[in-house]
Amino acid sequence: MENRSLVTLADHSKEKIMYLIRMAQEFEKHPNRKILNGKIAATLFFEPSTRTRLSFETAANRLGARVIGFTDPKVTSSTKGETLKDTIIMVSNYADVIIMRHYLEGAARYASEVTPVPILNAGDGANQHPSQTMLDLYSIYQTQGTLENLNIYLVGDLKYGRTVHSLLMAMRHFNPTFHFISPKELAMPEVYKQYCHKHNIKYVEHTDFNEDTIAGADILYMTRVQRERFTDLMEYERVKDRYLLKLHMLRKAKNNMKILHPLPRVNEIEYAIDDDPHAYYFEQARNGLFTRQALICDSLGITLDDVIADTTIIE
Ligand code: CP
Repeated sequence: MENRSLVTLADHSKEKIMYLIRMAQEFEKHPNRKILNGKIAATLFFEPSTRTRLSFETAANRLGARVIGFTDPKVTSSTKGETLKDTIIMVSNYADVIIMRHYLEGAARYASEVTPVPILNAGDGANQHPSQTMLDLYSIYQTQGTLENLNIYLVGDLKYGRTVHSLLMAMRHFNPTFHFISPKELAMPEVYKQYCHKHNIKYVEHTDFNEDTIAGADILYMTRVQRERFTDLMEYERVKDRYLLKLHMLRKAKNNMKILHPLPRVNEIEYAIDDDPHAYYFEQARNGLFTRQALICDSLGITLDDVIADTTIIE
């Protein structure tokens, strides 16, 4: 049987990405339906989350599915020593799709190999966050009208930030030029730079962050310094407030430049920017609902044609 898990978007072709964007557009038109009536989605969150879990759960609920799961592994039998493998096999007895966030890199891939039930990776350590990337791609497409030939500036924690790793890999089909802006300590890891070389992805690295450095951006993708991934908290303290986007820094920005941030924001974007037309991060988070509806349906074998022909829409 075909495994319909989503572990990384690197597995997806350009056609598949555009197909999922079209499906998400259908859900944006009509998010309330009963197309998943009778289905059960399990959300297993071994790490904290606000947006990813709530938007996945909202996505399932708005499509008529029911949701089971946990938000804190301390309330599960993993505290008694139950392995991830056994947990996944158990939950597979109950649910049609499993949405999992885990602190270990590779946990989603591993889970997808021990069950025929589709696994949707909601973030695995510092590795990948493909559902975030789908909503990022959707946000870029909706604001720029294309994914092709864009200048994408990634700012902040490029070492531990799984969202930038996922986005970089998914954009390989679309001839982007990346600008990596980070302190040296949080630079894009070598493995992702090698990935760029292998796939002819252009990139430039910067440590300066000012209005001139970002003037050429179509997308300015800000990220939080990932405190939870540091083994040395002194190092975190040294780098945590290095890059704060201030309103005056947008003076030279392109008219249609959009600021994205996977959120939560800590101290990367000053609040005065929230009302600026370049700010798009709250709409970006909203897009997570539609894209996650598309991902859940796709994992269950529901096609774009099924969605277009769907008669269960609730106005
Ligand atoms: N963007 C994101 O993953 O947010 P949460 O950690 O709140 O889910």
